[in-house]
Amino acid sequence: MKGIVFTEFLELVEQKFGLEVVDEIIEKSDLESNGAYTSIGTYKFSEMLQLLSHLSTKTSISIDELLLVYAEHFFGVLVKSYPVLIKSYSDPINMLASIESHIHIEVLKIYPDAELPTFEVISKSKNSLILIYKSSRAMYYFGLGLMNKTFDYFNSSAEIVIEKLKEDGTEVKFIITKN
Ligand code: HEM
Repeated sequence: MKGIVFTEFLELVEQKFGLEVVDEIIEKSDLESNGAYTSIGTYKFSEMLQLLSHLSTKTSISIDELLLVYAEHFFGVLVKSYPVLIKSYSDPINMLASIESHIHIEVLKIYPDAELPTFEVISKSKNSLILIYKSSRAMYYFGLGLMNKTFDYFNSSAEIVIEKLKEDGTEVKFIITKN
């Protein structure tokens, strides 16, 4: 997992809960990196899982809810870091339908070792989109947060229904209907 995901996560934790909580979740985790992340480094996904799980215990907020809020913050980071990529879209449905065929392909050019999910387009119309998310990391709530913010970004909104195709969340259907 790319360092930017860790650095931005810890920055948000500091903002919301304070530096003591950042120190505490790092302390409680068994981290190869010792919790020293740089935005261009690459770290084990298991480190993120440990940090999330200790934060969840500390705050009594579920990991899914933490991932959702974190993704909404991360979207702002993407807009700031990759404005040209996002500005090449004028519609949220088209943008979300292009994660697999364009957006994440560009991401791989920037970070060849990025560990990305797949988003297969099952059906698409002007106002609706059905995607199948697949990833061993089961971060579909992170995807949901990015989708919510994609609609916000285009001053739009949508109903997004999640249907788990595998119990562990490694395969999930997103049924997206623009309001
Ligand atoms: C992960 C970039 C848009 C869904 C990531 C990662 C990067 C990235 C750098 C981390 C990879 C790693 O840690 O190795 C971008 C950029 C985008 C973009 C630059 C737009 C300009 C989106 C959108 C979605 C999305 C719109 C909507 C669903 C995800 C998910 C992950 C991810 C769910 C977590 C990894 C996983 O589930 O396996 N993306 N992304 N991304 N991205 Fe994107």
